[in-house]
Amino acid sequence: MDLVQAIKERKSIRAFKPDQVHRETIKEILELAMRAPSWANTQPWEFAVATGEKLKTIQEAFIKRGGAAMQNSQSEVPRPYEFPEPYITRIHKMQAREMRGRTTEMKPEEMEERMIINFRNYGAGTCIYLLMSKNYFFQEKGVNCWGMYDSGAAVQNIMLLAADRGLGTIAQAMAVVYPDIIHEVLEISSDKLIALCIAIGYPDWDNEINKDFRDREPFDTLVKFYGY
Ligand SMILES: Cc1cc2nc3c(=O)[nH]c(=O)nc-3n(C[C@H](O)[C@H](O)[C@H](O)COP(=O)(O)O)c2cc1C
Repeated sequence: MDLVQAIKERKSIRAFKPDQVHRETIKEILELAMRAPSWANTQPWEFAVATGEKLKTIQEAFIKRGGAAMQNSQSEVPRPYEFPEPYITRIHKMQAREMRGRTTEMKPEEMEERMIINFRNYGAGTCIYLLMSKNYFFQEKGVNCWGMYDSGAAVQNIMLLAADRGLGTIAQAMAVVYPDIIHEVLEISSDKLIALCIAIGYPDWDNEINKDFRDREPFDTLVKFYGY
């Protein structure tokens, strides 16, 4: 697939077919994705790939713990709790589209159901967890965001390479809100932080939710040219 087409066609997939992605395919995607640039070629990313019973154990443990997952997130990468303008308006715009014309608030049962679907990784058969060494991320003088630029580039590569292969992905903060569960099930040492989950699988294109397309802000509100 042409790069421009992959960028245009990639979108977050929220309904997957149960089929597992072959280990070799994931390996090939990760090998290429790690061509991403990084600070002085430090390559701070690491990945843990889970499928089958291991992934099911994680999903069930998340569901059992339940709770207002996002609000009570124990995620190892500090999450944003404040959304000043213009970000909150963008979130509201997205939520309004998701409600598809419905004006009533989401009921608690609906919120719970949504959380469970997230915890089940939208039905994806495989999850790629992004890890980073805690001693590189948390430093004496503050949080080292730079390693996340590097890792973010690798994550976008994963998503575009997946699109190229007819696979779908979704980055999920929700799937790392209880990192202790992932540490335990995958036996990941406590000196690594579990930064993000990227669910990967075969999109169920018949599901209405995958017809959703999230547009972007008008170009001129975000970009300014100088000296032209
Ligand atoms: C770091 C990160 C975390 C995300 N976490 C979640 C999540 O937990 N659940 C979810 O449904 N979508 C999650 N998303 C997907 C975003 O909502 C999505 O990327 C955004 O709305 C734009 O839509 P698009 O990816 O289809 O273009 C996450 C995206 C990123 C980059």
